[in-house]
Amino acid sequence: MEKVFIYYSNTGNGDIVANKLSSYNIAIKKICSNYKLSSNLFIAMLTGGFKAIFNRNVKIKDFDFNISEYDEVIIGSPIWADRLSAPINSLLKKLDLSDKKVSLILYSGGEEIIRAIDQVKFFCPNASIITLHEPKKNDSELEKLGVFYE
Ligand SMILES: Cc1cc2nc3c(=O)[nH]c(=O)nc-3n(C[C@H](O)[C@H](O)[C@H](O)COP(=O)(O)O)c2cc1C
Repeated sequence: MEKVFIYYSNTGNGDIVANKLSSYNIAIKKICSNYKLSSNLFIAMLTGGFKAIFNRNVKIKDFDFNISEYDEVIIGSPIWADRLSAPINSLLKKLDLSDKKVSLILYSGGEEIIRAIDQVKFFCPNASIITLHEPKKNDSELEKLGVFYE
């Protein structure tokens, strides 16, 4: 089964996940957005949180990627204001994943995630969901990715 990990990362937690999954021979595609978060954490939380809460679309840069060659799609998103990050929310509105096996990997600073899980169920009702607590700082969280190892 051909697998791809499509993800967004602003501060590197998603990159750590991508690095681990690439060691399992999973193809990696990082998405970039024209929307940039401020380097000031307070402003980033405010503006990014606003985009996430109000379900605002952001532009994905150069997503000329063909997912038809993959049977399994793993999507990675940081949590913004308890929701999917705006770039992944915008991407999921566009991608047709109906004939794919789908998993979501959500990385967050806190323990509890509620609204992002509801969003995932809306976009991909059968998706499995893995949550990771700041994998950049917590190596042991990466052990949860073992489910993708074949
Ligand atoms: C705009 C914004 C909002 C965030 N909101 C939450 C939140 O509601 N709950 C949480 O646990 N973490 C929140 N975080 C923390 C990130 O989800 C967490 O640091 C994640 O690991 C970042 O992934 P990245 O380094 O790949 O960008 C937020 C971060 C940002 C930038």
